[in-house]
Amino acid sequence: MADDHYLVLARRWRPQTFDDVVGQNHITRTLQNAVRAGRISHAFLFIGSRGIGKTTSARILAKCLNCTSTDKPTPEPCGTCENCVSIAAGSNIDVIEIDGASNNSVEDVRQIRENVRMVPSRSRYKVYVIDEVHQLSIAAFNALLKTLEEPPPHAVFILATTEAHKIPATIISRCQRFDFRRVGINDLMALLRKICDAEGVACSDEALHAIARAADGGVRDAESILDQLVSYCDKEITFKDVYDVLGLVEWQVLHSLCEGLRQHDVAVLLRIVEDVVASGKDLAEFTQEILRHFRNLLVIKSGAPEDLLSLPETEVKEMTRSAESFTLTELIRLVEQFAELTSGLESQLAQRTALEALLIRLAKRTLDVSLDSVLEKLAMLREGAMAQDAPTPLPARKRAAPPPPEKKSPVAPSAPKKAKAKAKAKARGAKTSRTDTPAPAAQSETVDPSEVKAALEDPHISQVVDVFKGRIVDIHEEPEHND
Ligand SMILES: Nc1ncnc2c1ncn2[C@@H]1O[C@H](COP(=O)(O)OP(=O)(O)OP(=O)(O)O)[C@@H](O)[C@H]1O
Ligand SMILES: [Mg+2]
Ligand SMILES: [Zn+2]
Repeated sequence: MADDHYLVLARRWRPQTFDDVVGQNHITRTLQNAVRAGRISHAFLFIGSRGIGKTTSARILAKCLNCTSTDKPTPEPCGTCENCVSIAAGSNIDVIEIDGASNNSVEDVRQIRENVRMVPSRSRYKVYVIDEVHQLSIAAFNALLKTLEEPPPHAVFILATTEAHKIPATIISRCQRFDFRRVGINDLMALLRKICDAEGVACSDEALHAIARAADGGVRDAESILDQLVSYCDKEITFKDVYDVLGLVEWQVLHSLCEGLRQHDVAVLLRIVEDVVASGKDLAEFTQEILRHFRNLLVIKSGAPEDLLSLPETEVKEMTRSAESFTLTELIRLVEQFAELTSGLESQLAQRTALEALLIRLAKRTLDVSLDSVLEKLAMLREGAMAQDAPTPLPARKRAAPPPPEKKSPVAPSAPKKAKAKAKAKARGAKTSRTDTPAPAAQSETVDPSEVKAALEDPHISQVVDVFKGRIVDIHEEPEHND
């Protein structure tokens, strides 16, 4: 477009109807049905991260309510009447957009309360869109509460926020709540493709995918990145351009990183970090890329369907091969650790990945080898070893309490002591009962050599020993057949 004033893509492509809003069907459909049925709430709460359609949807709803092409609210506003046009431009006098961040005092809310009583001048409804509503002061919230409780019939409030947890429950309970979702990579790619086609920009799939991935579910972000790339390369965007502009970490680097970790090769790992820093790339972004990479490996390893991966097909194959060199436990650990590292960035990816890792861990519950159970098994092993070393069978020994200062009497412990030991053992048993492998020998009072032998032959236990040798191994995972 050869406009004198270049309008950024995000503004030029602001959806004008609910049908154009991407990835929020659960919301747009409900709102349209409510308008169609004439069941219009007086207070809406739009929650969701930046740039995924809150303000856009608020404006479309306002158009639905006030479009003059019909004599009542319509789920399909015309887009051409005076109201529709001015609402889209943000200049309609009955649709008032207020920035909650800069109008956050009681006085500000009082003013809204005064205003709201006056009937709309040219519309059916007076619509108040309060953005960043979480920024209101407590007193302002309280003042707002009264209005939300008994609004005049012509008033509709749309409160929008990126931070739901900062909204008092009293406010939330008076609103109809809508949770906007980050938009999936496929939806983002389809939207970007549509924009590129309309704008006459050629862009490879790989490049679009990289843009969508970098946007991390944000539609405005995706469009802004596309803007940036159009400025950088004009009419033809390749993956390399995206890489140059965003500093995405190349596949090869992530591969070497995996190799470095697997081989415990510190030099390789530090060299990678050095290269990333030297090339002027953002380390936080790099850490996110690593996290994303391990998340994908984890999803593959856990056997989840491929569409959860948000990767192009060619990459899936490559990743599947790479996933083979890790165990599930290793990947869970890697993901958790990188999620923790990036969590300081308040990244959605970090939160999601940490949650997923926990869920996978729980779903494959036998993986949960608590320290308790490991210690339990180790104690058992030690006793077993001692029993084997001893030339003659040892006298009955208590398992829970340490033996009393060597008083070599082969008699069984006195009754109260024995009860105490039992209670302790029981407590330990309760603690470890989470794991699926109660060790029966651990409960007994004496060490039975045949049990020890069996325990040593138990692959789980020998793997526990491996853990203590500093190796990461799978405790209960099915053995893998690498053919
Ligand atoms: N769901 C969506 N479908 C299509 N385009 C979208 C969507 N969400 C956002 N956009 C694009 O991003 C721009 C900004 O969206 P919008 O103003 O609705 O974001 P928001 O959720 O209100 O964000 P913020 O929290 O920053 O106010 C829109 O102009 C539009 O181009
Ligand atoms: Mg907004
Ligand atoms: Zn209209």
